[in-house]
Amino acid sequence: MSASQGLNDCSRGYATQLDDQDRLRHLRKEFIVPTKADLKSKTLVNSASNSENDDQPCIYFCGNSLGLQPRRTSERIISHLTSWAKKGVYGHFTPHEDSNLPPYLHVDDIAAKLMAPLVGALPEEVALMQTLTANLHLMMASFYRPTEDKYKIILEGKAFPSDHVVESQIRHHGFDPKEAMVLIEPENSGSPTISTSHILSIIEKHASSTALILLPGVQYYTGQYLDIERITSYAHNLGLTIGWDLAHAVGNVSLQLHGWNVDFAVWCNYKYIDSGPGVIGGLFVHSRHGEVDLSTRQDGGAGFRPRLSGWWGGDKATRFGMGSDFVPIPGAPGFQLSNPSVLDLTAVIASLEVFALTSMAAIREKSIALTSYLEDLLLHAPAAVGLDEKGLPYQIITPSNTAERGAQLSLLLKPGLLEGVMKALEDAGVVVDERRPNVIRVAPAPLYNTFTEVWEFVHIFKVACLKAQNGRANGGQEVIALKGQDEKGWAQIK
Ligand SMILES: Cc1ncc(COP(=O)(O)O)c(C=O)c1O
Repeated sequence: MSASQGLNDCSRGYATQLDDQDRLRHLRKEFIVPTKADLKSKTLVNSASNSENDDQPCIYFCGNSLGLQPRRTSERIISHLTSWAKKGVYGHFTPHEDSNLPPYLHVDDIAAKLMAPLVGALPEEVALMQTLTANLHLMMASFYRPTEDKYKIILEGKAFPSDHVVESQIRHHGFDPKEAMVLIEPENSGSPTISTSHILSIIEKHASSTALILLPGVQYYTGQYLDIERITSYAHNLGLTIGWDLAHAVGNVSLQLHGWNVDFAVWCNYKYIDSGPGVIGGLFVHSRHGEVDLSTRQDGGAGFRPRLSGWWGGDKATRFGMGSDFVPIPGAPGFQLSNPSVLDLTAVIASLEVFALTSMAAIREKSIALTSYLEDLLLHAPAAVGLDEKGLPYQIITPSNTAERGAQLSLLLKPGLLEGVMKALEDAGVVVDERRPNVIRVAPAPLYNTFTEVWEFVHIFKVACLKAQNGRANGGQEVIALKGQDEKGWAQIK
């Protein structure tokens, strides 16, 4: 399966052929894909469908926002609820022969072990805890230690509202965000992406006064995948600490956080990890920052990296001793605060079991092929639907280099089309998300999406663009009608 095979053959049959060759196609059945009727229904049970078409699965390209539910999630959650119902507090300690979940006390360890290969970490470098934003604050409490000379934080100008975290941390330490926040803006006003060389030049410019760099692994708006290894290494050579927001990277691209020597990273588990809305988040702390050496206490040191600590991060051997001397578990678990929600962890473990059926390398390989096929069809499929290739009413703002993007393509529509396009997509049972005023984000997830869905999406999307264009030109009246299909299956317009 290569990235650009789609160029020569734009037929639906070719998409089916790509699905037949897909080594991950068996994983789709691990997920519940809503039907079009489910999406339209006003109730949760027995969605009534008005047509045969409504019984079909929707096209769900929104894994960048909220991934689909694995089938095993409800089984695992019911099993957890049963253990709580039947064992009460004994559930903390009692293993069960017919459950693959350990006693509540150790569920966090199992979750971290399953998560580690996805982010290229040692198991002890990962903790599943809190939420992304809370974890960002906790990491900054430990890694942002400003002084009078080195107090700045470098981040990108279009960061997800993480800049509020940064701003509040800067104020918390008594500095002025106007002086202490350095925003990296795209160097070219015609493109929202940022080149690595530009990022490095800003880091170099402010190195002497900077205390921390915080960047996204995959940028939420453009889908750009930053060169984490190179930027981390450059920062380290200048003596700087760097953390990463991996909300859009985890479960999407192959990460090697340990090998790349990343200081810390945070993420959520509801996007490509598929563990449910608002579910518990995750963090990575490199092993060199998680060491506990009590012998240094003799010199007045704490024996571990400073942090905002909580009892659950305390050494397991003494955790229930209820002493007041906090000694953290070595590694990322030593940054935990509270006993974690087992309900949440159960959902994350269910998803990670699905990931364990394959590898991130295989997922990434399919993802590159799937997204490249989407790009090829968006840019080069025949203009049979009536859109002129040269005058397409949209532009892909995600980098075309597959090494610089994950699953998502961000499409910048011509002004005024967004509403009409989104309405037409929704009517056709296609789920993508919008970033106003003019961008839609399209993210086929390799675990459950197919090449045929990509083909159908492009087809529906091009018709949606035409409808939106014509609707605008005719005072909101929809004036296009389909006259049939060409020999490749593309719609033709009367
Ligand atoms: C880049 C990025 N950071 C942070 C968040 C949200 O963090 P939280 O889970 O704490 O609400 C998102 C959510 O979409 C995101 O895209």
